[in-house]
Amino acid sequence: MLTTSTELFKKAIAGKYAIGAFNVNNLEIIQGIMEGAKEKQSPVILQVSAGARKYAGSLYLRRLIEAAAEGNPEIPIVFHLDHGEDFEVCKDCIDNGFTSVMIDGSKHSYEDNVALTKKVVDYAHSKGVVVEGELGRLEGMEDNIKVEAGQGSYTDPQQALDFVKKTGVDSLAVAIGTSHGAYKFAMDANPKLDFERCQAISDLVKIPLVLHGASSVLQNFVEEINAYGGAVKGSKGVPEAMISEATKHGVAKVNIDTDIRLAMTAATRKSLKENPDNFDVRKFLGAARTAVTEMVKHKIDILGSAGKI
Ligand code: G3H
Ligand code: 13P
Ligand code: ZN
Repeated sequence: MLTTSTELFKKAIAGKYAIGAFNVNNLEIIQGIMEGAKEKQSPVILQVSAGARKYAGSLYLRRLIEAAAEGNPEIPIVFHLDHGEDFEVCKDCIDNGFTSVMIDGSKHSYEDNVALTKKVVDYAHSKGVVVEGELGRLEGMEDNIKVEAGQGSYTDPQQALDFVKKTGVDSLAVAIGTSHGAYKFAMDANPKLDFERCQAISDLVKIPLVLHGASSVLQNFVEEINAYGGAVKGSKGVPEAMISEATKHGVAKVNIDTDIRLAMTAATRKSLKENPDNFDVRKFLGAARTAVTEMVKHKIDILGSAGKI
């Protein structure tokens, strides 16, 4: 069943767990996630980025997500726009079945971010759609802009309060030390997230917080990719214990894309290598889909959302 995140987040905050927001780009990813959510009886957020729309097309993705909802009536599914670039993209999604949109104004000045976010909130709320805003800048790739190491900025709690008051956003993506992609921390680094800041923001804004760039870059996938001919080197993500910890400090939505990519790439490489005579694409795409299901089930356990439908 398609739903907004309002009630799901309320329950998650109260129960100190989070809902996984998984990036979707094709049929196998959507089916893989839904199978995991079904087995774990967990709510789930299916989110669509600009890259996903470019790759698969908005209409195909919408129809696939509608099929996921029809096939899984007992599972609450939030259909979410990830990193909405401008008002027009958000409006298009609000008008076309999304139940939640993110307007990512973090690349703009504070004043412009406030104005843009408020404009999206006003339109979205008039249509019963909820909005995620972003304040602070994550390092790594965002909106096709590379934010270099050292150029990110953590979310300021007082500014977050002002932002939420002025815009009326329903949830807020915060920068507390995570980043997008597979290379979040140096291999020899001791990863740290600023949970104190996260708690301070949560206490002030009193709306659910969102953690972007939250993949753990599971080393078993990296090792498998490399064992079967790949060359993914020096990549380290957010330790899963820290993801669990974040759910105790006001984080109700945890974004995961990179771990899906790694799981599928590892399974595809393995299947192709082990079956050199195979050219039935369903065999390796099926293996990739199963890998997504297993990875999603594991994440649901880390996030604590099993059985919370
Ligand atoms: O936050 C970004 C997501 O990982 C989506 O990436 O634009 O390559 O689909 P993408
Ligand atoms: P990862 O690259 O850590 O999976 O983050 C994804 C994300 O934040 C999507 O918005
Ligand atoms: Zn993101």
